[in-house]
This record gives sequence, C-alpha cells and structure tokens, in this order.
Amino acid sequence: MSKLIEVLTKDGSYSLKSISFQENFHSLLGALEETKIKFTAPSDLQRFKGKSLNVLDICFGLGYNSASLLDELIKQKSYLNLFALEIDKKPLEYSIKNKSFLKLWAPKIKKIFESLHQNNYFEDPFFKCKILWGDAREKINIIPAANKFDLIYLDGFSPQKCPQVWTIEFLSKVTEKLNPQGYLITYSSSAAVRKTLRNLGLEIFSIKPGINDCGFWSQGTVAIAKFDKNKLKLNLNFEKLSVMEEEHLLTKASIPYRDHNLNSRRDDIIKKRLDEQLLSNLVSTKKWRKKWGMTKSAFKS
Ligand SMILES: C[S@@+](CC[C@H](N)C(=O)[O-])C[C@H]1O[C@@H](n2cnc3c(N)ncnc32)[C@H](O)[C@@H]1O
Repeated sequence: MSKLIEVLTKDGSYSLKSISFQENFHSLLGALEETKIKFTAPSDLQRFKGKSLNVLDICFGLGYNSASLLDELIKQKSYLNLFALEIDKKPLEYSIKNKSFLKLWAPKIKKIFESLHQNNYFEDPFFKCKILWGDAREKINIIPAANKFDLIYLDGFSPQKCPQVWTIEFLSKVTEKLNPQGYLITYSSSAAVRKTLRNLGLEIFSIKPGINDCGFWSQGTVAIAKFDKNKLKLNLNFEKLSVMEEEHLLTKASIPYRDHNLNSRRDDIIKKRLDEQLLSNLVSTKKWRKKWGMTKSAFKS
C-alpha cells in the first residue's frame, strides 16, 4: 500500500511525498512551476492550435502535467487524444478533492479528472482521455499499436528510486510510440537516461534552466524522434547539450539501467548497474564533477 504525505511547495501549490519511494512528487520549489517549466513550455503547444494531437502521460500522479496541458489546449481550441499510465489511484483521489489544485485550472479539468477517476475515461467533442491503472511496463502494451504520440511525458520518481521506468527496455517501448518529430519530455537530466535515448536513435536536447534556477545546469531532457532540423521550429526552452553535458555522457553515470524481461525489482536493476559500473573503463563521474566544479546539490538527475 502506498503511503503519501501532503506537501506545500514554495510557489503555493500542493504536492505529495511518497513514503514507499522515499521521494517527493515534485521539486519543493514549486509543483506548478515545475510542470510549467519542465513539461508545458518545452511542449511547443502553439504548434497544435486548432489542430489535434496525441499525448501519453507516463506516471500521471496528481495529474499536474496533464492538467496544465489540458488547460492550455482548452484556450487554444485543440483536439486531444490522451493516454495516461499510473500505478496508484491515490494521487488522483487526492487531487480531485484538493480545492487549491482544482483552482489552478479551468473548471473543465475537474470534470475530466473526476471522470478519469470514476470511469478511467472522458470524452467530449474536443478531448478523449483514458487512464490505464497498473505498472507502466505492462500497461504500455495495451495502448493500440496504431496510437503514436506527438508528446510523451515521462515523470517517474528519480532513476535511483524507481529505475523500473528508466531502463533501456522500457524506454525502447516508450520511444517506439513516438510519431516522427514527436517529443519525449522528462525532468531527468541523468546521463544514463540521456545516453539510452540517444542510443535509441533520438536527438536529445537540454531544457534550459529558468532565470531563477541558478545552481541547476538543466531542467530536463527533450528527446525528438526521427529528428529533422528543417521541421523543428526554434524553441526557446531547450537547446543542444553543452560540452559539460556531453562529457557527462562519457562517464560511468551513463551506464544504462537494464530490465531484460520488464519485471525486475528496483534493487536488482540498481545492483546490476552498479556491477556494470565497477567493471567499466569509462571516466569516473567524480572526476567529471570535479572538472566542472559540480556540487552534489547542483546535480539532480
Ligand atoms: C514523480 S510522481 C509523478 C508526478 C506527476 N506527474 C504529477 O503531476 O503529480 C511519480 C508517479 O509514478 C507512479 N509510479 C511509480 N512506479 C510506477 C510504475 N511502475 N508504473 C506506473 N506508475 C508508477 C507513482 O505512483 C507516482 O504517482
């Protein structure tokens, strides 16, 4: 059973902390701010003004990323086909009862979320939304193969706490679901995740830190499938990896998480990677951190 504790973040928005994963759902600086900077802004939603798009939200949680997306799409009259994956119903139960959370969005979001909670489904002329409850590693297989996504949000707990959703095998399934030029967006700037996405053939970009984010060198990663630079409109929210970030991908930190049959336990995935790191000839991550004057706190993956 999951045990969750309510957390008030610095921008006044509410979030949760998971006792079983020993991690907060959002940065303590602000749950709302995190969603806006790390997921909504890099999505380039203006591309879909008056048009339709397909989105997959992995690790739906309280639903900040989907709510912010829906809120923007209501304003610009887009049509959406949304799939969400989540293992635990409690965060959604919490958000549909939390007035402060609901007040952040257009009233229609409450209707959509209540319907997702009761029927796992919502449909009106603009939006078709479906939530699949269970382990994302399994439930991703239920999404019909014909469904390809323009945007995939990946918002699991950190790779060290929940490596199950950051392995080569899972990311390979996820990236197969991207449309050409589709974006996979995550808050993670972990070298293992970035290197895996690059090895899967995606072009990777770094989400730029905001003006108030001194101390952070990146706010996450955008990975683009079948990247064609002529089709990519200038996006002010993400950029090519810096030399420092590229060098990060040459260190032992870039050794991937593996889960051959997509059913391993956390500890087994972590142990396997540690064993591989011990045998590896790659540059030590400590050396890289020292070279770039990195403190542990500036280095959240
Ligand atoms: C960092 S929180 C997500 C935050 C969320 N996007 C939000 O807006 O609240 C991570 C979520 O991943 C879920 N989760 C953990 N392991 C999972 C798995 N194997 N499959 C699906 N969801 C999982 C947790 O229940 C939790 O809700």
